[in-house]
Amino acid sequence: MTERNLLLLPGDGIGPEAMAEVRKIIAYMNAEKAAGFVIEEGLVGGSAYDAHGAAISEEDMAKALAADAVLFGAVGGPKWDDVPYEVRPEAGLLRLRKDLELFANLRPAICYPALANASSLKPELVEGLDILIVRELTGGVYFGEPKTITDLGNGQKRAIDTQVYDTYEIERISAVAFELARTRGNRVCSMEKRNVMKSGVLWNQVVTATHKEKFADVKLEHMLADAGGMQLVRAPKQFDVIVTDNLFGDMLSDVAAMLTGSLGMLPSASLGAPDAKTGKRKALYEPVHGSAPDIAGQGIANPIAMIASFAMCLRYSFNMVTEADTLEKAIANVLDKGIRTGDIMAEGATKVGTVEMGDAILAEFQALSA
Ligand code: IPM
Ligand code: MG
Repeated sequence: MTERNLLLLPGDGIGPEAMAEVRKIIAYMNAEKAAGFVIEEGLVGGSAYDAHGAAISEEDMAKALAADAVLFGAVGGPKWDDVPYEVRPEAGLLRLRKDLELFANLRPAICYPALANASSLKPELVEGLDILIVRELTGGVYFGEPKTITDLGNGQKRAIDTQVYDTYEIERISAVAFELARTRGNRVCSMEKRNVMKSGVLWNQVVTATHKEKFADVKLEHMLADAGGMQLVRAPKQFDVIVTDNLFGDMLSDVAAMLTGSLGMLPSASLGAPDAKTGKRKALYEPVHGSAPDIAGQGIANPIAMIASFAMCLRYSFNMVTEADTLEKAIANVLDKGIRTGDIMAEGATKVGTVEMGDAILAEFQALSA
């Protein structure tokens, strides 16, 4: 039987509660479908800091490098606000992205029909929304050097972050965006600030050249990132695939997420390059929402983004496309039945907690898989 090696890193805040619901689905798939998932576990973020004094231990990094895929919950919380910058909870996630070379971050923003009313925008603007943000994840201002705060000696300090992009980084992320566009609406919108930033000028040139060379069949459009943010809230359905850098992608994907009704709904996949020998990509799957310390431990968090992240894992790491489709359908059906966590609650719906939501999705998944 094929072994499928998964590393679970639940992390902090609502991460462990959400991950517990995925565990139930994995247990079912192993028991009833002989899926062969072999699970390892580790600590990341504040929980790793408390245990090891680091945002992720070397041992858990080694497990992440060895796994077929990593499922990641969330990191951070006020408890760790004052820990040294190098070992802050987010450093664990950033190290995973960097060391696993997960340069392509896929953030689909899909508005489930049942949730159009939960969006802060008018339902007709978001109903049927299906966009994919492809965010560059291992470069740009997140990792550029120098990255310092220096004392100028005159009572002033100077902070420097550096935005750096090399041609190959822009080529490979735009190739991912074009390839994915071919499987959907065949349109890519590239966003940068070429009117202000040199990295934006190069970004624009390389995306244009990559398009011309290999992907001329895909429709390409360029937008300044600020205008792109405006268009995302004005008329989000005009987009199919958006490709953008690390920082703009961070911001624009939160905006896109909220269009769909709640941050608690959105999954993401972070992928590396295919291995030259095996063709396998390193991969990490995580909900776009954070650790939500304000509601952690209360059993009210929405586990859907975490479960949908596992569906992306089935699709992209294990090519279990039918199972991924079925799990996504199970989520949609449960929403159609009016079952809601607090963040997406609507009049006349049934309000449930994290565990009940997980149970409902598992039951629906079982019924659909039978
Ligand atoms: C995200 C998060 C992270 C980021 C944080 C937790 C470092 O906001 O994945 O969008 O900024 O990339
Ligand atoms: Mg973010």
